[in-house]
Amino acid sequence: MYWLGLDVGTGGSRALLVNEQGQVKFGFTAPHEEMRMERPLWAEQRPENWWEASQAAVRGVLQQAGVDGKQVRGVGLTGQMHGLVLLDEFGKVIRPALIWCDQRSQAQVDWINQTVGKNDVVAFTANPVLTGFTLPKLLWVRDNEPRAFGQVRKLLLPKDYLRYCLTGEYATDVSDASGTALFDVVMRNWSSKMVSRLKLDSSLLPRAVESSELTGAVTAQAAALTGLEEGTPVAGGAGDQAASAVGNGIVEEGVVSCTLGTSGVVFAHMDRANYDPAGRVHTFCHAVAGKWHVMGVTQGAGLSLQWFRNQLSPGTDYDALTAEAAQSPAGAHGLFWLPYLMGERTPHLDAAARGGWIGITAKHRRADLIRSIIEGVSYSQKDCLEIIEGMRVPVEAVRASGGGGQSPFWRQILADVMGKRVVALETQEGSAYGAALLAMVGTGVYGSVPEACKAAIREVRSVEPRAHESQVYARGYQVFRALYPTLRPLYGLIGSL
Ligand code: XUL
Repeated sequence: MYWLGLDVGTGGSRALLVNEQGQVKFGFTAPHEEMRMERPLWAEQRPENWWEASQAAVRGVLQQAGVDGKQVRGVGLTGQMHGLVLLDEFGKVIRPALIWCDQRSQAQVDWINQTVGKNDVVAFTANPVLTGFTLPKLLWVRDNEPRAFGQVRKLLLPKDYLRYCLTGEYATDVSDASGTALFDVVMRNWSSKMVSRLKLDSSLLPRAVESSELTGAVTAQAAALTGLEEGTPVAGGAGDQAASAVGNGIVEEGVVSCTLGTSGVVFAHMDRANYDPAGRVHTFCHAVAGKWHVMGVTQGAGLSLQWFRNQLSPGTDYDALTAEAAQSPAGAHGLFWLPYLMGERTPHLDAAARGGWIGITAKHRRADLIRSIIEGVSYSQKDCLEIIEGMRVPVEAVRASGGGGQSPFWRQILADVMGKRVVALETQEGSAYGAALLAMVGTGVYGSVPEACKAAIREVRSVEPRAHESQVYARGYQVFRALYPTLRPLYGLIGSL
């Protein structure tokens, strides 16, 4: 018997089959269309394309693993968070989704803060409202595309659009709902106060469940398209970060994860809903029933390296890039990379921040450029970790995952920069794996999420910080921290050019 985790990422949709012991049998990714960036800071994708890619991924994984849809006992969903999917009265997508890294909604964020009151927003949702969150995106559509807004009957998050396609149900889970700015994270339900103060129609919102609860079953039509069996139950699932944390076993206090995908996230479990008063990290519901998590986000983590590759080294694979970076010493000869390619969340909360290299000289080579990118992203992840530790969340070790986390070179730099033991797990599958484990809990294989993690997750490799490199990075971090405040006064002007 198998369980399927389905992850709607940014670059592609991934389907992963896991067996009764929680071991990965096979994974298959179907790429998405490139995100459309009509203007700087805009980012859109077509939900219909996610569904096509997901069908291909599910069919692909079943076929390649030689598994019949009948053998799949449950499906768990996960995906990129915060995206705005709008459906009309017929369940049709009204316009392309504004996705997680879209930053166009500063005017709407300001309006929400004026209308609700900045402090009340934090009191009602446990977080300040940010341009990346779903609510300001909805209000951007209201303010700029009133015709489209008039047709809206349901608002869904990316993975929940897949749920709708698979089961016909409108539902989300508490971890993903936490990133909308409409969710009462402490009470684990939609915030009636936000809804009423903003005069929104609460019928737009889907039902919110705990991540391992079941939400309907695969329809005959979806079964025909995917190869799954009609009636296969679908679990609530989780936003990609909470699901990835489940896949990394971050389900109790002490160990944090660092997931280096397009974005980079430092994630910690919390038994109680504590939050950073400055709102620099997000306090969201965890995919563990009745628990919370805190996370800091670097917007342009893997994205930084991807940008470098696409623009300056097309066709080169990431292993070749990191091998080249290893020819440069710690500190990349005094070269610094600011990863603010899509503004920044933690710690700056500044959609207008811009990235770039500082300190470049005629002596620098490509190896230094690449190394500085990996170091700059790692410094930015340290920014996240410092805030989380400042909230008295204990951190003994960091479990690395995502594309960057799979690189031993990048894990060593993280250990040196963060001054922590950095661990790699046997299963490097992150979100899709976490989603499959949630489906296993939902269908009764395990009694709880921590029980599932205990049974299925194993640490395999770990690296300790090295003395010399740690010293170099401690000095480098002082410089890195000073760069953003120095450049900040110029970002408005830069953006206006
Ligand atoms: C989390 C976040 C990213 C996206 C894309 O807050 O924005 O993790 O979900 O991966």
